[in-house]
Amino acid sequence: MTQIITVVQEKGGAGKTTLLISIASLMVADGAKVAVIDTDPKDDLYDWADMGQTDLDYLFVKHDEELMPAIKKLKSSDAKYDAILIDTAGFKSAMAVYAINAAALVLIPSKANKGDAKGAIKTYAHVQSVAENMDKEIKSYVVMMDIDANTNITHAVLDAIDEQEIPRLNAVCAHRTGFKEMTTTGKGPEKSAKEAAKVVLAELQIKKALNYYGGENGEAAA
Ligand SMILES: Nc1ncnc2c1ncn2[C@@H]1O[C@H](COP(=O)(O)OP(=O)(O)OP(=O)(O)O)[C@@H](O)[C@H]1O
Ligand SMILES: [Mg+2]
Repeated sequence: MTQIITVVQEKGGAGKTTLLISIASLMVADGAKVAVIDTDPKDDLYDWADMGQTDLDYLFVKHDEELMPAIKKLKSSDAKYDAILIDTAGFKSAMAVYAINAAALVLIPSKANKGDAKGAIKTYAHVQSVAENMDKEIKSYVVMMDIDANTNITHAVLDAIDEQEIPRLNAVCAHRTGFKEMTTTGKGPEKSAKEAAKVVLAELQIKKALNYYGGENGEAAA
């Protein structure tokens, strides 16, 4: 069963594309059949995938109304994808609503700054309202990106998110050059970045959030 995973955060530059690429490439390394859909006009994800260094299928979707048909087509294709990961633009959009609506799992990245934390909190509320409107459950987690663990600002941001009782992964994609290098190599994270990303993936597995690893997420409507 194909699982749709959407990465969303209404504040730009929080690490959406970095998180998506990290998870997608680790899943590919584990033998998963993966497709990625870039819906962000900046097409960073598409550019990365187009370097051809990672064995996955990819497409760019420009118009809101094209997203659901694109997902349907991928899901019914002979490729039998284990997961389709959708990247979104760093602002509120109808496209993001479609992408959230299609998902069984939503990941909300946040760096350790006030703007990102605010964005993560608002984005989580937005995901919940989409889920309520559609009368379904969408598992969602905040994932901290690009952080230095023991700084005051990191603690303040974690406290702000936790005060709202928003589900958050303990695992983080800490500040590592290996995450930045992915955009030039076309590959997944390497060295210490890979180790960090693997811990994020492992926590998602433990939470049974990833169907490929025996997770329990329901099928999303698409
Ligand atoms: N863990 C990390 N370590 C180092 N750099 C990081 C990390 N996470 C993200 N970055 C850097 O932060 C910047 C923004 O990340 P990214 O492009 O993934 O964010 P985004 O949310 O997709 O942005 P946009 O809203 O513009 O699409 C990039 O330069 C990326 O390399
Ligand atoms: Mg991006």
